[in-house]
Amino acid sequence: MFTRTAPLLTFGAFLVRLSGAALMNSTECVDVHFVLARGTTESYPGTPFTMAEIVANGTSVTTNYESIIYPATTETESDSYFIGRAAVGSQVNSYAAACPESSIVLISYSQGAMIVGDALAGGGGDATLGNTTEPLISEKVSKHIAANVYYGNPRHAPYQSYNMGNGTWNVTGKYPRLSYQIQNLDERYGDVTADWCNNGDGVCSPSEGSDSLSLHTAYAKDYDPIAAAWILEKLGLGN
Ligand SMILES: *[C@@H]1O[C@H](CO)[C@@H](O)[C@H](O)[C@H]1NC(C)=O
Ligand SMILES: *[C@@H]1O[C@H](CO)[C@@H](O)[C@H](O)[C@H]1NC(C)=O
Ligand SMILES: *[C@@H]1O[C@H](CO)[C@@H](O)[C@H](O)[C@H]1NC(C)=O
Ligand SMILES: *[C@@H]1O[C@H](CO)[C@@H](O)[C@H](O)[C@H]1NC(C)=O
Ligand SMILES: *[C@@H]1O[C@H](CO)[C@@H](O)[C@H](O)[C@H]1NC(C)=O
Repeated sequence: MFTRTAPLLTFGAFLVRLSGAALMNSTECVDVHFVLARGTTESYPGTPFTMAEIVANGTSVTTNYESIIYPATTETESDSYFIGRAAVGSQVNSYAAACPESSIVLISYSQGAMIVGDALAGGGGDATLGNTTEPLISEKVSKHIAANVYYGNPRHAPYQSYNMGNGTWNVTGKYPRLSYQIQNLDERYGDVTADWCNNGDGVCSPSEGSDSLSLHTAYAKDYDPIAAAWILEKLGLGN
């Protein structure tokens, strides 16, 4: 039986990283592979990178990252969402097949959170996002995913055990997730997901009215250290 963190438990969890090497863009097999999905208009690797760096810097196991390759242009005026969602499926499935011993950590922001979440849980179901789809990542591959962190998720669902952030446990994002998608995410990833939403960020909590861009862009500053510590814990590498 494959367990999510088994390969890591034999490593020196309490050592600090000795090499001081920068986190590299690579799909070589390592202990912990980050898959990063940037937000609309960001350049690669975008907002998710600093969280990955903090995790990498906090452990002695081997790490690297890849970015989801997609346009990250406005989803209402381009095929960015569709291209991105498919890319998450193919990139994650390829890495898991090539590196079955690795733990995969998904970190995504804004439109990035939408394409990752919809590849995991099933997507679409909205005039902009098209017909509903089934998950692109199988339950078998889901076991390789040790953590799945969203910042400012447009498909934030209310009342989920994995909702985190400031007073947004009960809010709904701008593209509400359908019930079968919520169920897939909960069943397959509920224990490894953290969905960070700031109250007043119009992307993940438009119901709160204020639609603040400054709150949508504050995540790394507000939550990186705590989100990274949570990832280390999920990897079995926390203190
Ligand atoms: C992580 O460590 C690298 C290499 O020492 C350093 O350049 C980088 O600033 C660190 N990143 C963070 C977010 O602490
Ligand atoms: C990361 O590597 C891939 C594959 O070589 C490349 O296509 C991509 O442009 C690189 N991304 C960055 C941000 O360097
Ligand atoms: C959506 O589903 C309908 C009905 O099955 C089909 O006719 C249509 O081509 C689909 N649209 C897309 C974009 O796949
Ligand atoms: C969420 O809960 C807060 C605090 O209890 C409340 O003020 C707010 O109206 C609720 N929002 C929604 C969308 O239910
Ligand atoms: C939480 O959100 C409220 C309402 O938007 C804001 O006034 C408050 O400063 C926030 N607190 C933190 C710790 O971010």
